[in-house]
Amino acid sequence: MAESVSGCPVFHGNINLEQPTGTLIKEFKGMRAESPIFWNEDPGYWIVLKADYVREIFQNGAVFSSESITPNEPNPEFKWIPGNTEAPKHVEYRQILNKAFGPKAVEKFEPMAREYARSIAESLKDQGGCEFNEAFAGVFPVRIFLEMINYPWELQPKFARISDTIFNGIFGLDGCTMDDTLAAMKEIRDFFEPELAARHANPRDPDKDFLQFVMNSTIQGEPISDDDVLNMFNQLVLAGLDTVKSQLGYAFLHLATHPEDRQRIIDNPELIPSANEEFLRAYPLVMDGRKVREDINFHGVEMKAGQMVQLVLVSATHDEDAFENADEVIIDRAKNNHLAFGAGPHRCMGSHLTRMEMRVALEEWHKVIPNYELAVPLSEIRERGGQLSLRGLPLKWST
Ligand code: HEM
Repeated sequence: MAESVSGCPVFHGNINLEQPTGTLIKEFKGMRAESPIFWNEDPGYWIVLKADYVREIFQNGAVFSSESITPNEPNPEFKWIPGNTEAPKHVEYRQILNKAFGPKAVEKFEPMAREYARSIAESLKDQGGCEFNEAFAGVFPVRIFLEMINYPWELQPKFARISDTIFNGIFGLDGCTMDDTLAAMKEIRDFFEPELAARHANPRDPDKDFLQFVMNSTIQGEPISDDDVLNMFNQLVLAGLDTVKSQLGYAFLHLATHPEDRQRIIDNPELIPSANEEFLRAYPLVMDGRKVREDINFHGVEMKAGQMVQLVLVSATHDEDAFENADEVIIDRAKNNHLAFGAGPHRCMGSHLTRMEMRVALEEWHKVIPNYELAVPLSEIRERGGQLSLRGLPLKWST
């Protein structure tokens, strides 16, 4: 068993495993102290841990390609748009998506999101407790997403199940494999394919129907292909549902276990946006990758063309060289240039939506259920690795 590759220590563990919450943060801290980059022996890719290196890779598409962003799949069978595309087409895809996910578009959905958050909290209030993932975090973002793409919210269970299966398959959880992931992605395609056909036959008003708007757009002067549209919706489902659910889970875990911070946001709701930025920094979910285009010496490490690098955001945002008191959650942190949404040209398209959803969720929930705590000991709260997410969050409160 090699102990060092190109001067980097070799990692023998499995980042994707389910573990008690916080285990990975501690493990990465120990690793960072040893080296900014590790070689992950199985399946064989670089693990990048320091904030400045992670930022540099995100920003250097000339060397680090987005052809694959899944660290353990250098040649994926699927293509996500815009995630797996490059300039100049990448820029055009993003311009199309901005119609629905830009700040102005997102603003319009705030009243509906607020009403929905409030109504879920009201419906839970007298129960004295809930499984937060199931009762709130897993439904709230899915419904808003469906509303934004003009589909009925009755589809929520279907899309939530598809999203769960995709991630369980990628990370080998709940008995799922990569085959289940591919089948779930196909289900998204199978859902949208007839939707496209119906619009080809009878076009709708693109101002009222986002799918029609996307279908009417052009890429490099040519009408966008059906395949591109399907790959775009595939990425939207994948990127937009599990992420907000998971981020809300960490925010509420923190607030359930830190009553003093909870009281501060109840007394000063204007603190909520900065608290959310801090939750994004302290618990960033994503650990995706880039593919090395050509042999390169990256800060002394010989990386070979075709190899993958994994950008571990939860390590980068706990890097003491980039963030003061990085392991502390400071809900009014003054300077917070976190990397939770990535950086560079592929920076998250859904950041405005995420910020709105999180702000509204925290504001409305705390108006209805201000005091709550974990219903089980903290040691029983477990998280998924790979792309961080709490596996469950039982909360209780007095009625
Ligand atoms: C807490 C919530 C979220 C987090 C932490 C998050 C994080 C990220 C990160 C780190 C990236 C960069 C990936 C890379 O460079 O390889 C990304 C890209 C992306 N995100 Fe998000 N995301 C969130 C929510 C959303 C939502 C709600 C949507 C929309 C429905 C969305 C849509 C996208 C898309 C389309 C991309 C690809 C952008 C591109 O490749 O140009 N995300 N996200």
